[in-house]
Parts: sequence; C-alpha cells; structure tokens
Amino acid sequence: MRLWLVLGFAACAATWALAVRADEKPSAEYVRAMRTLDSVSRELPRSLAAEDAKGLDALVIQARPALATLEQYWTARDVEDALAIAQRASKAIAEISVAVHLMADGPNPIAVEGAQDSIKTFQASCVACHAAYRLTLPDGSFTIR
Ligand code: HEC
Repeated sequence: MRLWLVLGFAACAATWALAVRADEKPSAEYVRAMRTLDSVSRELPRSLAAEDAKGLDALVIQARPALATLEQYWTARDVEDALAIAQRASKAIAEISVAVHLMADGPNPIAVEGAQDSIKTFQASCVACHAAYRLTLPDGSFTIR
C-alpha cells in the first residue's frame, strides 16, 4: 500500500519535471528578440531626449519584428496573459511611431510627452512579463516559466 503511494508520487514528480523541462528552453530566435528589445528599451529615452526623430524611427523598426516573434511565441503556447502583455508593448511602439511622425513636422511638446508615456508603458511590459514568465537560473541565465 505504502509502496504504491511512494511509486505514484515518484511518477508524478517525474512527469512534472518532464513537463517543466519541456517548455523551458527559449529558442535562439526568442533570445535574439529579447536582446533587441533590451537595446531598444535603453535607447528610446536617449533618442527622445535628443529629439532624434530618425533614431526613434530606427528603434521602432527594430522593435517590430522582435515583438512579432514574442506575440507568435505566446500565441502558440496559448498563454493569454503573456500575449496581452506583449500586445501592450506593441501598442506602445505603435504610439511612439505616431509621436515620431508628429515630431518630424516641427517641435511638438505634446507628441514628446505622449512618447514619454508610451516608453514607460513599453518598459512596464518587460517587468510585468518577466515577473510572471521568466525564471532566473542559479547560473544567472534565464528560462521561460
Ligand atoms: C510576454 C513576455 C515578455 C515580454 C513582454 C518581455 N520579455 Fe524579456 N523575457 C521573457 C522571457 C520568458 C525571458 C526568458 C527567456 C530568454 O532568456 O529569452 C526573457 C528574457 C529577457 C532577456 C534575457 C535574454 C537572454 O540573454 O537570455 C532580456 C535582456 C529581456 N528579456 C529584455 C526584455 C525587455 C527589455 C523587454 C521589454 C521591452 C522584454 N524583455 C519584454 C519574456 C518577456
């Protein structure tokens, strides 16, 4: 009786470990997308402070395919909450793009302010998703939760 209980528990634990393992390792494409978003996220405030419309435009163009990779990944995994966070980041990038176009027509403090808010939303999406779906391993590397 007891032995079965122990065996049953061991089987459950093994299945659980396998299930966790199976969806842990991020693809090279996913990691690349994250690193692109990381540099975009750091550059955006600098380019905005310099009112560098060209630079901002280039960052928007870099962010889009990375965000598409993210959305595809979470759509395939059917994790609605993570997908919603990724979509929030995409929407923020779309708003930044609109602001950049407005800024190209001449000084536009309202567009700059709008872009500042959108950058905050963009950066908040990183934090929100990482808190829920990113796991830091003992060696300091990351996996998907
Ligand atoms: C929808 C979820 C989600 C969003 C949004 C998200 N991330 Fe990530 N991020 C992850 C997951 C999961 C990992 C762990 C897998 C990995 O390392 O690629 C990760 C890993 C990373 C890494 C480590 C990459 C490596 O070297 O392994 C960086 C850097 C990073 N994210 C930056 C960002 C930035 C910056 C943003 C926002 C602009 C962002 N992420 C938005 C889920 C997300």
